[in-house]
Amino acid sequence: MELILRDGRLPNGEAVDIGLEGGVIRAVEPNLKAEAGQEMSLAGQLISPPFVESHIHLDSALTAGQPRWNQSGTLFEGIEIWGDRKQSLTLEDVKERAIATLKLQAQQGVLFVRSHADVSEPSLTALKALLEVRDAVKDWIAVQVVAFPQDGLYGSPKNLELMEEALKLGADAVGGIPHYEMTREDGVQSVHQIFELAQRYDRLIDIHCDEIDDDQSRFLEVVAACAVRSGLGSRVTASHTTAFASYNNAYATKLMGLLGRSNINFIANPLINITLQGRADTYPKRRGVTRVKELWQRGLNVSLGHDCIQDPWYNLGTGNMLDVASMAVHVCQMTGQDEIAACYDMITTNGANTLALGEAYGLDVGKPANLIVLDADSPYEAIRRRATVTHVFSRGKLLVETKPAEVRWR
Ligand code: FE2
Repeated sequence: MELILRDGRLPNGEAVDIGLEGGVIRAVEPNLKAEAGQEMSLAGQLISPPFVESHIHLDSALTAGQPRWNQSGTLFEGIEIWGDRKQSLTLEDVKERAIATLKLQAQQGVLFVRSHADVSEPSLTALKALLEVRDAVKDWIAVQVVAFPQDGLYGSPKNLELMEEALKLGADAVGGIPHYEMTREDGVQSVHQIFELAQRYDRLIDIHCDEIDDDQSRFLEVVAACAVRSGLGSRVTASHTTAFASYNNAYATKLMGLLGRSNINFIANPLINITLQGRADTYPKRRGVTRVKELWQRGLNVSLGHDCIQDPWYNLGTGNMLDVASMAVHVCQMTGQDEIAACYDMITTNGANTLALGEAYGLDVGKPANLIVLDADSPYEAIRRRATVTHVFSRGKLLVETKPAEVRWR
């Protein structure tokens, strides 16, 4: 072996040694009887598959305040500000910010990222830049790019053409925003169109779906029905689905049955949902986060995303997935021990399912040696303390090391 990590603890509590060689995990067992060029003692620290950022907008990241700050804090002011900012996008501008953001994520344990790229501006600058970034960083972090029609697939006559161009250029997934289309009919039609494109170009689907407090916004049922009828199932993801939190329970119960049949993935973005939603409410004020706990209890695949890092919609954010999981624990009231563990799964294995990573992800023998070590002994402690990710191994190589903060009482 080139390297043996001794005395680590897996997220399920099992104590193991992990042996790496040639960029691949060669052994995962207690008291590994082997020698290595290098050994590292983890002293019972958590050793985990990397974090998966399943929903981020790298094209708008790190632009907060440009050209102005979002003072109302609403999604719609964010879309207006981004509309102005994107007039001055250049390939270099997007690439620089995207790579800076990916480094921020990687140093905190993220090695798999799904980013949306706005494809509703005529030059497709954001998309072209992110496709170049996907290639430039592929040796240390895996990026998927979703062609996302921010202004609606039918928001202007050119947008559908731009979407198709984006797929021809190599976007990994077809995106959408049905609740933002001009009419309900356009929204329904857009979902059908997205499925047609995904099948024609053999791509995944990830739709911004019902990201609104309107209890009548019901595109999730259209997405689920299309997933059932097309058989695309787990290749389909519904992001946000915040309106689901506002549906009456009679409808929600009926919908849950359909979602169970559909086998689609869900992504909640609790940091963003809790700040953007509920803005039109007085009191009681809604939380605006989808039914994460109920979807998880039903056995559906739910992952969590950061969505925004310092952009027109959210001027905070650090790229730390433990912040995201912690917010989910609070807002979704998932404070039971198994529920906290489930929130950790939502930023690791469930995210990998959403991204359809298959054999590329996990801590099994034979898999690529992507793993992280945390300054905590369990997922519970990691989330509670937002523990430092002390070591990030990408393809068997130590990519980043971070020392936990040291406190000295005088
Ligand atoms: Fe988003």
